[in-house]
Amino acid sequence: MSSHEDTYEPKGRVSKWMDERLPIARMMHGQFVDFPTPRNLNYLWTFGGILTFCLVVQIASGIVLAMHYIPAESMAFDSVQHIKRDVNYGWLIQPLHAVGASMFFIAVYIHIFRGLYYGSYKEPREVLWILGVLIFLVMMATGFLGYTLPWGQMSFWGVTVITNLFSSLDEVIPGLGTAVVTWLWGGYSVSGATLTRFFSLHYLLPFVLCGLVALHIWALHVAGQNNPTGLDIKTKSDSLPMSPYAVSKDLFALSVFIMLFAWFVFFAPDYLGHADNYIPANALVTPAHIVPEWYFLPFYAILRAIPSKLGGVIAMFGAIAVLAFVPWLDTSRVRSARYRPYFKWFFWLFAFTCLALGYLGSLPAEGIYVMWARIFTAYYFAFFLLVMPFLSLWETPTQMPGSISEAVLGKGSK
Ligand code: HEM
Repeated sequence: MSSHEDTYEPKGRVSKWMDERLPIARMMHGQFVDFPTPRNLNYLWTFGGILTFCLVVQIASGIVLAMHYIPAESMAFDSVQHIKRDVNYGWLIQPLHAVGASMFFIAVYIHIFRGLYYGSYKEPREVLWILGVLIFLVMMATGFLGYTLPWGQMSFWGVTVITNLFSSLDEVIPGLGTAVVTWLWGGYSVSGATLTRFFSLHYLLPFVLCGLVALHIWALHVAGQNNPTGLDIKTKSDSLPMSPYAVSKDLFALSVFIMLFAWFVFFAPDYLGHADNYIPANALVTPAHIVPEWYFLPFYAILRAIPSKLGGVIAMFGAIAVLAFVPWLDTSRVRSARYRPYFKWFFWLFAFTCLALGYLGSLPAEGIYVMWARIFTAYYFAFFLLVMPFLSLWETPTQMPGSISEAVLGKGSK
């Protein structure tokens, strides 16, 4: 862990006794109170804490839901309604969990885009970033599995469409795809067996997430935090102790986030969901228009933009996998886009592309929409495979401040 002055002093007899045997309080104090944070962190740096809060809310509300939910084909849908109507505080806990999933993804997307803008993936934070990509993957798997559980029409057909994608492996090795899909389903179609195993995995994965998040924060505390200038901490005046400075900022941002969260939970709990999920799953009636949850839409658009099934699957998984290589794809020596006059614009075009793909993913895959989805898919990959490696060859960064404190306090500051 990065070294700094240790100011921890156990006060009472019990804490002194404990400190000599298991100095856990000393470690926590060193990592979350004394820890030097760059003095110029903006509100985008509060999302890591917000994400930790989201994970805790999902696990706590999920455990209570699991006490009443029944993962059986004939009872799953009704058990969710029973939770909402009859269980004490079920009306609150169920939307906390369902809206919480969306809030979690809003926060994670902001967190990822922050990292891309300020070059937080660059040396020495490559492992921290890759752990983030793994977290993102596990989050997506958890969200997907969870959406199956209410066993509404969109749950059923969403899972049918997405699991069926694996059948494209038949094009690589005949029979392989079909075997994988049968194995995933636990039968020859999406059924009660699928529901039970998805419930089991949906309960398991958040704990895998906890492990990954612990590693993520550990890696962060080895490399130290990046900051809007992208410069390293050089002198003591570049940093402030995490508590109370960064902590109070985190708490303020968290309070605002909770207000937005509460607004959805209390006033629009179904807004981020799909109306068809209030119709019980029916294998004999296909919804006119099958769409995944909003946070999968950009990837869904990429999947449908490619004419071949296998090609679409490769592009969709490739769109996530490419993130893991970003630390090596970006060849610029300057971290922060603040000092990269052209990269900045390519970045905002990329952000727009992701929004546009999300919108296109919600529309039927026909006519002009498909063409636009192809154009945006092409730019999505061009950003990583062309802009990141080659732009820095001719881009001249703008004048950078000499240090973090100079960026905040002006030249000549002590
Ligand atoms: C459950 C999800 C996650 C949690 C709880 C989490 C937690 C955190 C925390 C507490 C921080 C420090 C505070 C901050 O910089 O905001 C952080 C930093 C960071 N995270 Fe995450 N994170 C998550 C997901 C991700 C994902 C998906 C990525 C990228 C794909 C990522 C990449 C990073 C990077 C690069 C940093 C260092 C940022 C910097 O110092 O500039 N994280 N994370």
